[in-house]
Amino acid sequence: MSILVEVSGDKLSGLTPPQIVAELDKYIVGQKEAKRSVAIALRNRMRRQLVEGDIREEIKPKNILMIGPTGVGKTEISRRLARLTTCPFVKVEATKFTEVGYVGRDVESMVRDLVNMAIDMVREGEILRVEEAAEEIVTEEILDTLLPISESDPEREESAKKTREKLREKLLAGDLEERYIEITVEEQVIPQVEVFSQDGMDQMGIDMGDMLSGLLPPSRKKRRLRIRDARPILFEQVVDNLVNMEDVRQRGLRLAEEMGIIFLDEIDKVAAGGREETGGPGVSRQGVQRDLLPLLEGTSVRTRYGTVTTENVLFIAAGAFNMSKPSDLIPELQGRLPIRVELHSLTAADFERILCEPKDALTKQYQALLTVEGIGLKFDEEAIDEIAHIAYELNQTTENIGARRLATVMAKLMEEISFKADSRKGEKIVIDRDYVTERLAGIVEDPNLSRYIL
Ligand SMILES: Nc1ncnc2c1ncn2[C@@H]1O[C@H](COP(=O)(O)OP(=O)(O)O)[C@@H](O)[C@H]1O
Ligand SMILES: [Mg+2]
Repeated sequence: MSILVEVSGDKLSGLTPPQIVAELDKYIVGQKEAKRSVAIALRNRMRRQLVEGDIREEIKPKNILMIGPTGVGKTEISRRLARLTTCPFVKVEATKFTEVGYVGRDVESMVRDLVNMAIDMVREGEILRVEEAAEEIVTEEILDTLLPISESDPEREESAKKTREKLREKLLAGDLEERYIEITVEEQVIPQVEVFSQDGMDQMGIDMGDMLSGLLPPSRKKRRLRIRDARPILFEQVVDNLVNMEDVRQRGLRLAEEMGIIFLDEIDKVAAGGREETGGPGVSRQGVQRDLLPLLEGTSVRTRYGTVTTENVLFIAAGAFNMSKPSDLIPELQGRLPIRVELHSLTAADFERILCEPKDALTKQYQALLTVEGIGLKFDEEAIDEIAHIAYELNQTTENIGARRLATVMAKLMEEISFKADSRKGEKIVIDRDYVTERLAGIVEDPNLSRYIL
């Protein structure tokens, strides 16, 4: 058990729910409920690992369904969450999958992605652990090539030792980086197998390249390289020797099983669109749902690293559900998504905040871009208010695309300045309400124009 937690630091490491929410707040305005739910779910992953006794086996993750209109932050929450968590995390779009037997990706590929991710995480953790030792070994190996150890003659051995020490000092000081040395490079011959797609092979839990290269002995080549270029190659080879891949494989599989999170975006797109569909895409959608169900219920999936069960993988599904309702999902699947959170439509006031507050806010992005041209850009409050209202109105009159609208409005607003920026070097430009109306009013008033431009 402790091995699993180790990967993410020691004991109950990682962020607490309030800390997770605080981190999400840096990028996403509002949507408190959704942030809380995912924060709790994330933390419960950690907690479960530390539960003592049999009850631990009984604790299953409570999958989440996030429901909210387009462009209000569903995908953004998952993207940011992925960066915060020390759990293996993959994000997939339900629309990418097709029913088994149809052309497209089968749903199990998301579990294989999760396992790949987990293996990478464990391997990286191992590399960090052996890094220092590996660097020392590399230094010795380089010294060996610079100054082969002579065996006989104790007297010469003594002076050789001294020379080696001097060389070591120089090497560590970085004085020998340009020197050429000859090293032996092990090259795994990776046969080009293009007959089958790797994805197809994955489905059978086989890595064709791995399999064939396992049969062929690695080819050893001598290469003359500068020390600076040889070092990373030697480092890789030493690390490969120090890291026990079998151990990494086993821990990676368990990490994926016990701590994995799969974010299933666009789940509404595989729900039947309200009315009963017969034939056409409806069949395939239902098929995808039926394929998804065992994953959420807990099933075994073969991967190239071994078999994993999905019983304890946490699924967070999200969808706009404007053409369909959660109740259009097949009942068994609904039952597997017990926690429902709604994300709210964004108001003009939210838009004002979104324009300015997030770390990656659009106004900050344009300011950063123009700083490069030597232009100081400022948006005054009234301008922000105007932009937010224009975006909000456009969402009401044309299609409601949520905060995505801000990007198109801002792009249009900034077009002129962005185009002529190089001729305005050194200027301070203040965007005020008048400038916003001047640039955008004509387009906003003409619904045909705004539909195409904004
Ligand atoms: N609540 C929000 N706070 C800040 N930015 C947001 C918010 N909602 C959406 N955005 C921005 O709008 C864009 C689309 O949001 P996204 O999360 O992809 O929408 P969806 O809910 O359809 O998945 C992103 O670039 C995101 O930064
Ligand atoms: Mg989305």
